[in-house]
Amino acid sequence: MTEAQKLSSHGPEYLASLLAEQGVLAEPWLRAAFARVRRHEFLPDRVWLDDDSAEGGYALLERSKNPDRWMQAAYEDEAVVTQLDDGGPERLDSYWATPTSSASMPSTVAQMLTDISLPAEPTARHCTKIMEIGAATGYNAALLAELVGPGNVTTIEIDPALASGARKALDAAGYEKVTVVTGDGERGRAAGAPYDRILSTASVVAIPYTWVEQATNGGLIVSPFETAFYNTGMVRLTVQDGTATGPFSRPLQFMRVRGQRTPAHFEALFTDEAWEARRTKPLDSDTSFLRDPAAEFAVGLMLPGVHHGQRGEGRWLSSDDSWAYVNDENVFEWGPRDLFDEATAAADKWHEHGRPDMSRYGLTVTPTGQLVWLNHADNIVGTLPTHNPGRPSA
Ligand SMILES: C[S@@+](CC[C@H](N)C(=O)[O-])C[C@H]1O[C@@H](n2cnc3c(N)ncnc32)[C@H](O)[C@@H]1O
Repeated sequence: MTEAQKLSSHGPEYLASLLAEQGVLAEPWLRAAFARVRRHEFLPDRVWLDDDSAEGGYALLERSKNPDRWMQAAYEDEAVVTQLDDGGPERLDSYWATPTSSASMPSTVAQMLTDISLPAEPTARHCTKIMEIGAATGYNAALLAELVGPGNVTTIEIDPALASGARKALDAAGYEKVTVVTGDGERGRAAGAPYDRILSTASVVAIPYTWVEQATNGGLIVSPFETAFYNTGMVRLTVQDGTATGPFSRPLQFMRVRGQRTPAHFEALFTDEAWEARRTKPLDSDTSFLRDPAAEFAVGLMLPGVHHGQRGEGRWLSSDDSWAYVNDENVFEWGPRDLFDEATAAADKWHEHGRPDMSRYGLTVTPTGQLVWLNHADNIVGTLPTHNPGRPSA
């Protein structure tokens, strides 16, 4: 028997044991769901694996050429990339390709399924209505179908080709009753609302208020959450009377929802003319916050829309109209904002607050604003732009 044949029958049970050993499948019914859903049936024949040594940063893996490795990839605890660059022409040899869809890493999937706190009691679990954003392969929707019953699952995918692949895979695996919608998950699906759980598997920089409107009172919204400054995080919100509030939790990284992608403006704004017109001052403060995940998360919450990164020996920061470049001796700035000073002031605040990590911050989403808090919901330390894709902008 080949490796591929063995895994095609025992893969799900093998993966469930692997995850149970890692301690991410606390509930027996969660483990049972992983042991039942055949992940390989949701993967396309052509996939990519993260590989820094490969052109574009991803190595193509084709089932027809390497069936054993392909099948192994289905049952490892690794993300399997299923689309690059929104399905546009492959350009692996030109620059780093951008993964735009994947079957997420199974341990991450398990953690998120834990975060949605499904009832342990089967009858209660089987009347929990769930909306998932980002169907991708349909694998997570199949797990959800095992957990709450296929008729209770709606999954939305923005990419029509991926949505149709998810539909086919779910049908073939016997989950015909799962509702697959091609559309923008930021708008949710009013026709199926209200939902007891809203689970996004693509990250946001602002929670669409539509999700709050489409959740039940007492319902939960779980979503990867990032800022332009720091692309890692997760938020878990409880909805009550039109407001959703809750803490940030895990440092997980996801692909951004299409409508909230915010490219850094640094390269476009860092022109010869801008360099000529720069302001220069000696560096007289600490820059370690630019390399400290807890500080980066906090600064990101306080400076929405500001990116940062490395270029040569220095670090840059940019917004849509300004940049700063910092090396060991000097700070160079251009544009109306003093971005380095703003970021330093935000980092100073984080120090004053006792250098809290992500889990001490939280978010409250109301119809008129997104408030960032520290330790408890009354202690507001920042505001993020409101985001309501369901309504025409005023
Ligand atoms: C990391 S994948 C989701 C993983 C998936 N749930 C699984 O079973 O493994 C993220 C998906 O979100 C989709 N997506 C991005 N923006 C979206 C949006 N606004 N609405 C719905 N889907 C979106 C992407 O096309 C991609 O397929």
